[in-house]
Amino acid sequence: MAHSLNHPIRTIAIDGPAGAGKSTIGLGLARHLGFLYFDTGVMYRAVTLAALQRGIAPDDENAVSQLAENVLIEVLPPSVDDGRQYTVRLDGQDVTWAIRRPDVDAAVSVVSAFPRVRQAMVAQQRRVARDGNVVMVGRDIGTVVMPDADLKIYLDASVEARAWRRYRELESRGAPSRYADVLTSMKQRDELDTSRATSPLRPAKDAFVIDCTHMDAGETLAHAIALVEAQNAIRTGTQAQSAVATGAPENEL
Ligand code: DC
Repeated sequence: MAHSLNHPIRTIAIDGPAGAGKSTIGLGLARHLGFLYFDTGVMYRAVTLAALQRGIAPDDENAVSQLAENVLIEVLPPSVDDGRQYTVRLDGQDVTWAIRRPDVDAAVSVVSAFPRVRQAMVAQQRRVARDGNVVMVGRDIGTVVMPDADLKIYLDASVEARAWRRYRELESRGAPSRYADVLTSMKQRDELDTSRATSPLRPAKDAFVIDCTHMDAGETLAHAIALVEAQNAIRTGTQAQSAVATGAPENEL
């Protein structure tokens, strides 16, 4: 795809299924570039937690949508040095870790499928995107939130590899569960995220697909950085097109 713009990349969209490593790669890229890292999944998680806290059934579309339209969600720089990448506040309350609870995991796909919930979240995400210098991570960033993003990455991996990584992560956080259970819930989330009517998970037409099934986080980040650098060289006309840079979108790297 020919880029006629000559400014370096300012907006990066990273989409992909649960557990593909989007946050690790997104945060790594943001740090490398000095950009803001914005993980949009936390917003859907915060709405889900708000519903659970208020005793609203996650499948009560009207009540959950109304809540999403009225609740205050803030994503701020880390306020505590406890390994967090950011602080998430829900109506002023620190919910950074609470939004990772298994009951939130179980209900968030239902909540994030409601069109009014998505509309409320996307409006806030677009405000963040407008300022540029951002790496935004989610499911619909390249397709809906930032369709004009300067670079779109779709990070994929086999469901078994993603479940294994999630299993190890839970173990290291002192919350072990059975691999078979993690795999089953990963498959359920894939099904819900890809089959919903509003903004289903899919790669944007002009996304670069990176399949990291057989790559560790360091290799995947190196790939992503190489892609950014190659695209920047093309955009600013500082270098002949390289193999990575010219890889047709939707081809796996
Ligand atoms: O990335 P995550 O696991 O924290 O996302 C939580 C849920 O939110 C997941 O089920 C998909 C949904 N989500 C979404 O629908 N759109 C986004 N932009 C980000 C997340």
